[in-house]
Amino acid sequence: MTRRSIGIIVNGVTGRMGYRQHLVRSLLAIRSAGGVPLADGTTVWPHLVLVGRSEAKLREIAERHGLDDWTTDLTAALARDDVQIYFDAQVTQQREKAIRRAIEAGKHIYTEKPLAEDTAAALDLARAARAAGVRTGVVQDKLFLPGLRKLKRLLDGGFFGQVLSVRGEFGYWVFEGDWQPAQRPSWNYRSADGGGIVVDMFPHWHYVLAELFGEVRAVTATIATHIPRRVDEAGRPYEATADDAAYGIFELEGGVIAQLNSSWCVRVYRDELVEFQVDGTEGSAVAGLRRCRVQHRAVTPKPVWNPDLPATEDFRSQWTEVPDNEDFDNGFKVQWEAFLRHVATGEPFPWDFLAGARGVQLAELGLLSAREGRRVEVPELAL
Ligand SMILES: NC(=O)c1ccc[n+]([C@@H]2O[C@H](COP(=O)([O-])OP(=O)(O)OC[C@H]3O[C@@H](n4cnc5c(N)ncnc54)[C@H](O)[C@@H]3O)[C@@H](O)[C@H]2O)c1
Repeated sequence: MTRRSIGIIVNGVTGRMGYRQHLVRSLLAIRSAGGVPLADGTTVWPHLVLVGRSEAKLREIAERHGLDDWTTDLTAALARDDVQIYFDAQVTQQREKAIRRAIEAGKHIYTEKPLAEDTAAALDLARAARAAGVRTGVVQDKLFLPGLRKLKRLLDGGFFGQVLSVRGEFGYWVFEGDWQPAQRPSWNYRSADGGGIVVDMFPHWHYVLAELFGEVRAVTATIATHIPRRVDEAGRPYEATADDAAYGIFELEGGVIAQLNSSWCVRVYRDELVEFQVDGTEGSAVAGLRRCRVQHRAVTPKPVWNPDLPATEDFRSQWTEVPDNEDFDNGFKVQWEAFLRHVATGEPFPWDFLAGARGVQLAELGLLSAREGRRVEVPELAL
């Protein structure tokens, strides 16, 4: 079998996402599987060039995984002819300028979300990439979650009739960092460092809503910084300046209303860390990361409001599990494989910089809505 090597700069590989999801669960997993097979019988083999700021950390990661190509010099890596793709999982604030350099170097680009810190910058990157003729992609991992794949299957099969509404709960308690270390990086809680749950989660909500239910046409959001002081990785107290909870209403093309809560200050009394309930005229579903349960119109019980009596029904037992019917691979890996095929063969890849810019736009307009206390319409973005 012919093996075709594609050189990939992996920048930000020492971070949470860069290491676990992109290096280990995606790129190394693809290598363990022998590469990405193409329709013509050839295989794409990712050759990894690890890039970061700390020589010691890069060397340690490279040695741990039997890799030998790493550097702290991004300029030199971008100048290499055997590198075709630049991937960015750095902190958000470092992304735009690095991507700009990669475009100038003529590399195809794949990146974590959010694409940039504001819509103008994101659109500008999309335009620059188009002008340079390079292919682009932005991580939209939630689309590949088993729970959401099953939800999509239900939508495609017409299960819901007319979809009326979506309500989503995302979140968990992120420790303040004092008596137990926080499980997220401290920059997430400082506005000046690109933190905030709106910037973090609204790009995800944008593509989930647009792909499954309809393009977002208006947003109304209320945000809060519930925990104003936290303690960082070094044990130093700091002021948490960024929003740590967002309560949003999204009006979608076609009339669906979505209401999504995102919070790092909520304790989980759910089956999964994110859950979406979809109600339609013919049936309803509750989808999480992995599971999806349904209740059809024909078997919907008739609850009667009576606060004088204890509840007699076990409501959860009235729902039916949607079967897997297929093997679900890691979502980050599935999207990486699609991007590598896109670069290698031109296979369509819809999750490009323009799609990423729409996610940034929703975050920006969500924050505007919260700041001004009003509903904000979301204009169509185009290149
Ligand atoms: N797709 C998802 O579900 C998801 C989830 C979490 C985070 N993210 C995104 O991934 C990115 C990284 O988040 P993370 O949680 O892995 O953060 P992290 O803090 O764990 O990692 C950040 C990486 O950037 C590097 N870095 C930090 N400061 C830098 C600087 N000044 N200059 C250059 N590099 C710097 C770090 O060395 C590290 O490699 C963010 O853009 C975030 O929005 C995506």
